[in-house]
Amino acid sequence: MIMLGIETSCDETAAAVVVDDRRILADLVLSQESEHRPFGGVVPEVAARAHLAHLDGLIGRAMQVAGVDFPDLAGVAATGGPGLIGGVIVGVTTAKAIAAVHGLPFLAVNHLEGHALSARLSDGIAYPYLLLLVSGGHCQLLIVDGVGDYRRLGTTMDDALGEAFDKVAKMLGLGYPGGPLVERAARSGDSGGFALPRPMLGRPGCHFSFSGLKTAVRHAAAGLPAAGPARDAAVADLCASFQAAAGDALADRTRNALAIFRARHAGVATLVIAGGVAANAYLRGRLAALAKAEGAQLVAPPLRLCTDNAAMIAWAGIERLRLGLTDALDFAPRPRWPLDPQAPPVGYAGVKA
Ligand code: KG4
Ligand code: ZN
Repeated sequence: MIMLGIETSCDETAAAVVVDDRRILADLVLSQESEHRPFGGVVPEVAARAHLAHLDGLIGRAMQVAGVDFPDLAGVAATGGPGLIGGVIVGVTTAKAIAAVHGLPFLAVNHLEGHALSARLSDGIAYPYLLLLVSGGHCQLLIVDGVGDYRRLGTTMDDALGEAFDKVAKMLGLGYPGGPLVERAARSGDSGGFALPRPMLGRPGCHFSFSGLKTAVRHAAAGLPAAGPARDAAVADLCASFQAAAGDALADRTRNALAIFRARHAGVATLVIAGGVAANAYLRGRLAALAKAEGAQLVAPPLRLCTDNAAMIAWAGIERLRLGLTDALDFAPRPRWPLDPQAPPVGYAGVKA
């Protein structure tokens, strides 16, 4: 079973061809970073136009790299949401057109499901597992019991962690996207250099909050030297201190989630980390240490499967097609699409689903 996957929900135009035996025949990602950099963040209208300009050609290249033709496909999967709606519409419409012309099943994949199942593509792990999904738009702990079977244990009450990394980078003048730049600056810094708050630490439950931490970084940043080596050293210390606080938060919340997971499922717990922030080596290290201390198995997909890509969308399409979960061609793209619609609402304004 060969699946074409399409991802256009944010600022990466991506197309991939994946086989149901977990072989990735093609996995192309076209980053729009340079188009958004002048604005210091993703501009939805710019993103939608760039997807429109590049997607057709990218799909053609992916098919060529994979050495397959449309009749060889078992289906076409595209991210159907959540995300920037202009981009999602581009991907969904393209996938529907290919499906209609070639008489193929169409699968609308939840972008978060793509991240959630990526470790089954990379590592072939079995259900159930605990998922820590940390990206630019999401920060969630979920139990994954099967395809479409998710229980959200916690989410962020304000910013997603990737968003916090991006904002910290912006306030320190490091550039965009911020995550990798903060990580690089932190490498030469002292994580004890600044005393930053650890929101939610030690509290029961699995919800996250990063806005207080972000505000504390903003205050600290205002007091840094204006330029020169002293500033560079202070920026490094502040980045390291921020990253350490984020690591404490992730470890604390994930420890609570592991306890809930264990109460539901016997045996060795598997902890999967996914999403763009999972590319952070320091945070991976913190979670590896937590998993070791808790006797859990940590699975972290390779970096290119952690950040946005279409291979994970193709794979989720394969898992859905196996179960006959295809979508009609009148599927409407969804700007919001929670993985666990039953999850109790978090009692704060501005909570991310
Ligand atoms: O999953 P992703 O590619 O896109 C979505 O948000 O869906 O995640 C992108 C986010 C950005 O906020 C980026 O700054 C963050 O992941 N990120 C990182 C690192 N690499 C990417 N954050 C911390 N450390 C990194 N090395
Ligand atoms: Zn993503």
